[in-house]
Amino acid sequence: MLEGKIALVTGASRGIGREIALSLAGRRAFVIVNYNGSRERAEETVHEIEKIGGKAVAFPCDVSDFAATEQMMKELVKTYGKIDILVNNAGITRDGLIMRMSEEDFDRVIATNLKGAFNTIRHLSRQMLKQKSGRIINIASVSGVLGNAGQANYAASKAGVIGLTKTMARELAGRGITVNAVAPGFIDTDMTKVLPEAVKTAVTEEIPMKRFGETKDVAEAVVFLASDAASYITGQVLCVDGGMAM
Ligand code: NAI
Repeated sequence: MLEGKIALVTGASRGIGREIALSLAGRRAFVIVNYNGSRERAEETVHEIEKIGGKAVAFPCDVSDFAATEQMMKELVKTYGKIDILVNNAGITRDGLIMRMSEEDFDRVIATNLKGAFNTIRHLSRQMLKQKSGRIINIASVSGVLGNAGQANYAASKAGVIGLTKTMARELAGRGITVNAVAPGFIDTDMTKVLPEAVKTAVTEEIPMKRFGETKDVAEAVVFLASDAASYITGQVLCVDGGMAM
């Protein structure tokens, strides 16, 4: 149970982030549903949470923006007094082979996936150090563990997230703060819906469990890492991938 805990989930208006928000709220955490695009979808997530008897608010912020992220953290800490659980879930893809990848597509993916996680941790770490407790869970990817043709920008960003996770774990461990990554394989969301059928079939062949995962599979791993049961686990990368990266 996460009664009394305040959780911030970035990019939580849909997909994996939405499921994480619902699962944390289902364990009684108060959830801040961060979003960048659609306020309507974020409010829908809040509504879903309220329907299961949970508590949540929607909060807009582009996490790739350093100053905006600082402002968000200031406001949240002022309002709620603390943040116990930070889930860096916001992420984008701009896939393409390296010879055709634009500078903009490389920079945008790094700015959201890697710098976004840096921004939130950078602006929350002082508060968590003061609290002498905290859980940071970064959503990486098997692409960052194994590499993936056509995803130079994305795989680099997620490998970066893993390096960031381990470094933060070392810096913050002495003050009761754990930092872990969850590395999903292929999960059925809007992000993977756009893949051509032929790619989906080829990918499924590579998954030992021969199927895509569900958002719930990732959310439950996050809930575990946020729970008391995981209090002695830090700096780890938990792959939720049907066996892809073993
Ligand atoms: P999605 O595209 O459905 O959701 C991503 C969310 O992040 C969206 O709500 C989007 O608005 C938000 N977002 C994007 N840029 C943002 C920004 N600058 N600030 C705040 N929010 C922002 O994708 P999905 O599949 O739910 O992915 C969630 C996370 O899981 C991502 O980090 C992704 O890289 C990771 N992941 C997903 C996998 C999959 O197979 N779906 C596999 C491995 C990792």
